Amino acid sequence: MAEKDQQVHPPAPANKHLRSDEESAGLQAKELKRKKRIKYAVYIAAFAVFQTAIILVFALTVMRVKNPKVRIGRITIETMETNNTGAAAAAASFDLKFIAQVTVKNTNFGHYRFDHSTMSFLYDGVIVGEAIIPKARARARSTKKLDVIVEVNSRALTNTTPLGSELSSNILTLNSQAKLKGKVELMKVIKRNKSPEMNCTLTFNVSTRNLQDLNCK
Ligand SMILES: *[C@@H]1O[C@H](CO)[C@@H](O)[C@H](O)[C@H]1NC(C)=O
Ligand SMILES: *[C@@H]1O[C@H](CO)[C@@H](O)[C@H](O)[C@H]1NC(C)=O
Ligand SMILES: *[C@@H]1O[C@H](CO)[C@@H](O)[C@H](O)[C@H]1NC(C)=O
Repeated sequence: MAEKDQQVHPPAPANKHLRSDEESAGLQAKELKRKKRIKYAVYIAAFAVFQTAIILVFALTVMRVKNPKVRIGRITIETMETNNTGAAAAAASFDLKFIAQVTVKNTNFGHYRFDHSTMSFLYDGVIVGEAIIPKARARARSTKKLDVIVEVNSRALTNTTPLGSELSSNILTLNSQAKLKGKVELMKVIKRNKSPEMNCTLTFNVSTRNLQDLNCK
């Protein structure tokens, strides 16, 4: 009996002990779980902030569609003839043939495809020549260069007075304008119409028959 009692008795405190152990273990587990949950919440929040930052940077740099820049990069004169018969200012004239290198700078992360367009050359506001900029594609983050043959002459001018005085100071100033029409395409999904304009001033040196100055805006 005593043996039995002894046999029966001990488990009780052990059980009790186990229960309180279990309880504290349970509490510890709960606490651990709570801590884990907080940790996960912090991780998720940090990840969300990180992702938002990435998306923001992406939206502000990669996805922002900027206007490509079109300008004249270089002029190679083939022939240049000028007449300035001094006293008879009305007889002042010019005739030029040159190759204009048109550059289309595309800083976007997608290509810029543009249609052909007209490049006009003006003297004193009057069109003295036109040329066609062929349709082409400027690759992402690169500059497309196109050589365009241009012929200009003074035949369309009715008032050659400013020309006469310009030529007598050995200068010929032309203005060139163009407007491209095309689309910037980002990742085959986003398409934006972009129509960059060109406005360049070309100053020729009449005595050396060279291009003295090229200024594009
Ligand atoms: C300049 O004058 C010469 C002689 O008069 C003529 O042969 C030539 O065609 C003229 N050039 C231009 C550009 O008008
Ligand atoms: C044309 O070029 C020559 C040689 O570079 C220079 O001496 C002259 O001043 C220039 N003419 C003008 C009008 O700038
Ligand atoms: C082009 O630039 C010139 C000055 O360099 C300016 O006088 C002219 O108005 C401009 N033209 C256009 C169409 O913007």
